[in-house]
Amino acid sequence: MSHNLERVAESLVADGKGILAADETTPTLTKRFDILGITSTEQSRRTYREMLFTSPGAAEFISGAIMYDETIRQKSSGGVSFAKTLESQGIVPGIKVDTGAKPFAASPDETVTEGLDGLRDRLREYRKMGARFAKWRAVFHVTDSLPSAACVSANAHALARYASLCQEQDLVPIVEPEVLMEGSHFIGRCERVTSVVLHTVFDALFEQGVVLEAMLLKPNMVIAGKQCAQQASVEEVADATLTCLRRFVPAAVSGIVFLSGGQSARLATAHLNAINRIGSRKLWKISFSYGRALQDPALEAWHGRDEYLAAGQRAFCHRACLNGAATLGKYTCEMEASSASEDETPLGRDWHDD
Ligand code: 13P
Repeated sequence: MSHNLERVAESLVADGKGILAADETTPTLTKRFDILGITSTEQSRRTYREMLFTSPGAAEFISGAIMYDETIRQKSSGGVSFAKTLESQGIVPGIKVDTGAKPFAASPDETVTEGLDGLRDRLREYRKMGARFAKWRAVFHVTDSLPSAACVSANAHALARYASLCQEQDLVPIVEPEVLMEGSHFIGRCERVTSVVLHTVFDALFEQGVVLEAMLLKPNMVIAGKQCAQQASVEEVADATLTCLRRFVPAAVSGIVFLSGGQSARLATAHLNAINRIGSRKLWKISFSYGRALQDPALEAWHGRDEYLAAGQRAFCHRACLNGAATLGKYTCEMEASSASEDETPLGRDWHDD
């Protein structure tokens, strides 16, 4: 089993490429649409995803795309399933399989991600529909006293059981433990929490017999809380992130694909680039699996209007190209030229609940 899966995992972190996370649940995407006055219907969500999935030239920089359950069941306007639409361009189809972060009984201010019940059957169905990889996201809130040890261990255990089931069903698991950026904590607190989380997750993956070569890790970067007055520099974030990953992520893992977590599109690209420039200290392929940081400019350019579909695709492709360059450490600010207004988006960055 694992040779095939290893090849899929490696293809997702091929040179100059990364993953598009387009797996927002319907309530989350609706929030996004609402901000721009776009009506959220099955049809408008389908049109939006089709715009992204068929952007001319994007496949040069996008290795895989993560869909939501509704999306994998939809078809392009030409009547082709989205899984096939992606595959025909060389983009690997993926699927979000957790059912969301729910209140954690042992600690009411925290969440545990659910979705293990019936997961084997759902994975089997998604694999038949053409998915080759899956995603499960656990979230950790940071305060002086959180996350609790109970929350870290419950989420790590669920992530590991999910990953093991994926490999059994011939899907590459993306393991996503996200330490949230919300809060006023310093970068050092994020580093400590991320260290504990990664250590606990890899212990659980070992216990559940997960093959590390046949999975990808999708972590947060080590970064100060959004409300922290003292924001770290791009170089400090890159250094702290890589130090933390080197301490807690085994070298056998096929690749690391960061989430953007609420960073602006440009900062997410600059951080990824800086991390990849510290070349001599890298153990794995390091790339992106961005949601907001890839989609914000495209969604805004499109604005729900048919006449702006091509503009939305250009914005998406441009962002994908810049992030592709960042995976090689070849991104420069000058490459932003054609997207001058991207950081002045009205979208805010707090919409990703998935
Ligand atoms: P962001 O890049 O917007 O954080 O989304 C990535 C993702 O898939 C969250 O689950």
